[in-house]
Amino acid sequence: MQTTYRSHTCGALRLTDEGQTVHLCGWVNAVRDQGGVLFVDLRDRYGVTQVTFRGDKDAALLAAAEPVRPEWALRVTGTVIARPEEARNANLETGDVEVEATALEILSESQTPPFPLGERAEVTPEIRLRHRYLDLRRPRMTKILSDRAKIMAIIRKGLDAQGFIDVETPTLVRSTPEGARDYLVPSRVHPGRFYALPQSPQIFKQLLMVGGQDRYYQFARCYRDEDLRADRQPEFTQIDIEASFVRPDDVFGFLEPVVAELIAAFHGREVPVPFRRMPYAESMERFGNDKPDLRNPLELRVVNDAAAALGFRVFESAVESGGLVKCLVGPGAASFSRKEIDGLEAEARSMGAGGLAWAKVTEDGATGPLGKFLIGDAGLAFLRAVEASPGDLILCAAGAPVVVNRVLSALRDRVAQRLDLVDTNRTEVLWITDFPLLEWNDESERFQAQHHPFTMPAADDVPLVFEAAEKGPDGWDKATLESIRTQAYDLVIDGVEMGSGSVRIHRQDIQQAAFALLGLTPDDVERRFGWFVDALQYGTPPHGGFAIGFDRLVMTLLGEEGIQDVIAFPKTLNASDLMCGAPAEVDDLQMAELHLASTADPDGEDD
Ligand code: AMO
Repeated sequence: MQTTYRSHTCGALRLTDEGQTVHLCGWVNAVRDQGGVLFVDLRDRYGVTQVTFRGDKDAALLAAAEPVRPEWALRVTGTVIARPEEARNANLETGDVEVEATALEILSESQTPPFPLGERAEVTPEIRLRHRYLDLRRPRMTKILSDRAKIMAIIRKGLDAQGFIDVETPTLVRSTPEGARDYLVPSRVHPGRFYALPQSPQIFKQLLMVGGQDRYYQFARCYRDEDLRADRQPEFTQIDIEASFVRPDDVFGFLEPVVAELIAAFHGREVPVPFRRMPYAESMERFGNDKPDLRNPLELRVVNDAAAALGFRVFESAVESGGLVKCLVGPGAASFSRKEIDGLEAEARSMGAGGLAWAKVTEDGATGPLGKFLIGDAGLAFLRAVEASPGDLILCAAGAPVVVNRVLSALRDRVAQRLDLVDTNRTEVLWITDFPLLEWNDESERFQAQHHPFTMPAADDVPLVFEAAEKGPDGWDKATLESIRTQAYDLVIDGVEMGSGSVRIHRQDIQQAAFALLGLTPDDVERRFGWFVDALQYGTPPHGGFAIGFDRLVMTLLGEEGIQDVIAFPKTLNASDLMCGAPAEVDDLQMAELHLASTADPDGEDD
C-alpha cells in the first residue's frame, strides 16, 4: 500500500511499529482540541489512526494544524508512539498507538460536508446519493465495495479454474427478446434507427457457443427499463455463463461449488452440494411461488376436496370453476388479535383476493367466520386435511390459482415473521426446475415465453410441443399448453431469485414449433431475430447457461436490504442519477444531429 506519498495506510500501525517515522495520508475523520493538544483522527479506506499535534513540542505545527476541519485531505509525518494504557481504544485496530506529528501538509481543503459522515447520522438517502462520493468514504460503504470486489474475484477464480473464458459482448445491440422495455440509443449515421442497450447478453452468448467457444462467462452490464424495486436497478450486473454439450446438471455443477464457497466465506456456513432441487409445480403448490424462502417452515395446503364438502358457497364455487382452495396454518396463531387478522385480510384484498376465510381452532371446534362451517364430519375432515391443532389459525383463500398463490405466499411470509419462525441462522439454497414453457398473458391474450423463446422443452414434453404446433391455435387446450415443461431453472437463496438459466433449443424443428406456440409468424421471427435463427442453422451444439444477478448476490451475501447500497453509483427508484442529474435534456444541436425532436412538455416533470 506504500506510495511515494505515504509509508503506511491509516489502518496499518500497531505497537510493533513504535518509534518509526511514518507518513500517513487520509481524510480528517474528527478533530478534538484539548487546549495545547490537537487530536486529529485520520481516515482512509483501511482504517483510522489518531494523530496528535502537541503545542509543547512544536507550537508552530500546532498552529498550522488548528484550522483543519472534517474531510480535509492531509499528509502527516510523525513518530509512532504507544498510547498510555488508559487511552487505548480497543474498538480501533490502530487503537494502541498514535502518531505524534512532526510535519503537516494540507493536500486539499474541504467545504463543510452536506451531511455528517458518521454511521449513525440520520441522513436521507437522497442526500447521500446526491453526494455519493462522500457517502463512499464511510467505512460501511468502503467495506461493501471491497467485499463486492472479493466476491467477484472468488467467482472469477472458480470459473477460470473450470475452463470458462471471459468474453466481452457488445452493449450497442439490436433489441433482444428478454421481456422488459429497452433503453434505446439513437444512431447519428443511420437516421431514424436505434441501438438497444442489452437486457442481457443472451443472444451473443449463444452465438459464442455456435462459434465453438465452449465455456463463456462475463460480468455483464445489463439494462432494463422496468418498474424498479428494492432489488432492481435499471442497469445491473449479471454473472453470465454459457457452455456447450451440457444438460441442466452440468450447469448446476459449474455454479454450485462457487456459490457454496461464497456462502462459506460470507455467511460462515456450509451448504450441502449438490443443492436441493424442486420442480416449479411443487414449489407453487407448497409455497405459492417459485422462490420460496425455505428458512420459513410454513407450507400451504391445497384443500379443494375437503373445502367443497363444507357447504360454504365461496369454496364451492371456486372448486366448480376450476380454481383452488388453499390454506395456511399459523401454529399457535389463534392468539392473533382481530385487528391483526383484519390487517391480513386487507393485505389479501389488496392483492386481488375477494376475501380471506379464517378460523381459530379451539379444543371444541373452531371460531371465526370460517369456524361456523367447520362442523360435523366434513368440518373434522377439513381440520384433518389442513393438519390444524387447537391454538392454530387457519387462513384460506379461494379462487383463481394465480391470485390464491400470490396472496397466500405473501401471508406465509407475514405470518412466519410475526411468529418469528424464520431461522436466520441458516442459508437455504435451492434450484427450482422444470419451469413451464408458456405463460398466458391476459393483456395480449396470448401465450408468452416464461423464460425466453430459445428455451428447450423438457425431453418428455417435446412431442406435446410438436402436436400443439401442428394443431394451431384453434385446436389448443390451454391447460395442456400450460403443462409443457422446460429445461429452465432458477437459483433461489433465502427466498430471493438469484438467477435463471436454461438449456437452449439447438434443433431447428423444435425452435420452429416453439415459435408457433408463441404466436410468432415466420415474418415476426424474421423481423425480430431472423439473423440469430439463421446462425443456429450452422451446426449449433446443444448448449445451456445461466445468469446470476450479481448485485442481488452481493446483497444477500452481505445481508444488505437494498440493491442501491451494493452499487457504487446507483440510480433511484425512478431511474435517476441524483449526483450527475441523469437523465438530462441535451442541447438542440445534439438532438438535430441524432435526427430527433422531443414531444415532451418542456414544463413537465423533471426533477
Ligand atoms: P433473467 O432475466 O432471469 O435471465 O435475469 C437473471 C438475473 O438477473 C437479475 N436481474 C436483476 N437484477 C437487478 N436489477 C434488475 N432490474 C434485474 N433484472 C434481472 C436477477 C435475475 O435472476 N438471459 C437470461 C439468463 C439465461 O437464460 O442464461 C436472463 O437474463 O437476479
